[in-house]
Amino acid sequence: MNKDIEEVLYSEEMLSNRIAAMASDIDKDYNKSIPLVIGILNGVAPFMVSLINKITIPMNMDFIKVKSYSGVSSTGTVSIIGYVPDVKDRDVILCDDILDTGRTIFELKEKFLSLGAKSVKIAVLLNKIGTRVMDIEADYKGFDVPNKFVVGFGLDYNELYRNLPYIGVLKEEIYK
Ligand code: IMP
Ligand code: MG
Repeated sequence: MNKDIEEVLYSEEMLSNRIAAMASDIDKDYNKSIPLVIGILNGVAPFMVSLINKITIPMNMDFIKVKSYSGVSSTGTVSIIGYVPDVKDRDVILCDDILDTGRTIFELKEKFLSLGAKSVKIAVLLNKIGTRVMDIEADYKGFDVPNKFVVGFGLDYNELYRNLPYIGVLKEEIYK
C-alpha cells in the first residue's frame, strides 16, 4: 500500500499527539454531564479508538453508519444505514474522520437535534479546506488539510487503505 502514497501528511506520532490535545479539550468542556460520543462508521474507527482512549472523564460511546461517498467524490446524498443511537436529552459529540462538503455532519446534527439531543458538537480528525457546501464547522478538529484525496487511519479509497497507520495523499494514478 505504501507505494500508492504520494506524500505522508500526518505520521502516527503526529496523529497521536494531536488527538491527545483534542481529548484534553473535551475533558475540560464536559465536566457537568456525561457526553455521548457518536462515531460515523466506518472511517471513524481508528480516530475514535485513539480519541476515547485519551478522554479521562466519564463518557458513553455509540456509532452510526451512513453512506455518502463513492470513489473520490461526494454523491451529495446522505443516508443512514440501520440503527440510530438514542440521543434524547444527551450532550452528543459527533465524530468523523474528515469534514469535506459538510453534508454528512450537517444532516446528522439536524437529525440528532430533531430527536431531542440537548447539544451536538462536532469532532473531526481532518478539516478539508475550500470544499464546504453546507454551513457547518467543527468544534474540535485535528488538522486543516488541503483539497487533496487522502487515505489512511480510517480514510479509504473504495474501502481500501483504512488500515494504514498514517494519513497520506493517494497517488492520482490510482483513481484516474
Ligand atoms: P462530507 O459529507 O462531504 O463532509 O463527507 C464526509 C465523508 O466523505 C467522510 O466521512 C469521508 O468518508 C469522505 N471523504 C471526504 N474526503 C475524503 C478524502 O480525502 N479521503 C477519503 N474519504 C473522504
Ligand atoms: Mg468515509
